[in-house]
Amino acid sequence: MVWVKHQILEKSSVLLLVAILLVVVIGGIVEIAPLFWLSSTIEKVEGMRPYTPLELAGRDIYIREGCYVCHSQMIRSLRDEVERYGHYSLAAESMYDHPFQWGSKRTGPDLARVGGKYSDEWHVRHLTDPRAVVPESVMPGYPWLARRELDYKDIADRLATLREEGVPYTDEEIADAKADLERQVDPNAEGLKDFLARYPKAQVRQFDGDPRYISELDAVIAYLQMLGTLVNFATFDAAGPNLR
Ligand code: HEC
Repeated sequence: MVWVKHQILEKSSVLLLVAILLVVVIGGIVEIAPLFWLSSTIEKVEGMRPYTPLELAGRDIYIREGCYVCHSQMIRSLRDEVERYGHYSLAAESMYDHPFQWGSKRTGPDLARVGGKYSDEWHVRHLTDPRAVVPESVMPGYPWLARRELDYKDIADRLATLREEGVPYTDEEIADAKADLERQVDPNAEGLKDFLARYPKAQVRQFDGDPRYISELDAVIAYLQMLGTLVNFATFDAAGPNLR
């Protein structure tokens, strides 16, 4: 007899419309309402930290040069992606990205876990002239990155701006941003211990191999070599800390 009752709905378009609206509203409330009571939809993971000033400067150049036009930074939870690039991306891994760099266009490979995949020298050659290391590459060269001195006089302001967006930079990190940027390319610098305490797992070295000045290339390589290296997946459990 149910189908007879359903006929009433099917025969009156107004009634059907009201019923559809009712169903959509209930569905919508169930999906949307909890968001007003959750303080964050991003599950915290161990190891994720705000970017060092040098990594941040590199990220800004990555955006300036439009690398995101060809490269995504989000590994989807599909088998072929995970086998090619590594563990699928977690929301927390881009929680300090403003704007995020997920992207959907992949003329080149995903870069979310490119850190540590190649040596610094490889990146220097590749970014200067991609075909020097990958003969079939269609990626453009960026030879000026090595020639240009990095402009970082406003780096403290950039950290402060991100803090407005919710990135938890401390007063100390903002005050020391310029010095911290210089520390990261100088393994003999003073204050490295404090720097590494502030930014665990930060890599400290001459990234472009040219000690004369801090170049834009230093910053871009520091950024690339950090990508995907912060979260320790040996201790990560997708079920979450409370569900084990
Ligand atoms: C026109 C598209 C395009 C743009 C723009 C582009 N790339 Fe690429 N990129 C590619 C392609 C295609 C490859 C694969 C071939 C190769 O390795 O050169 C690649 C490869 C790479 C790789 C090696 C990835 C891997 O896992 O092997 C890195 C790192 C990289 N690009 C960084 C950059 C950076 C940094 C920028 C911006 C300064 C950039 N790319 C801009 C197309 C692009």
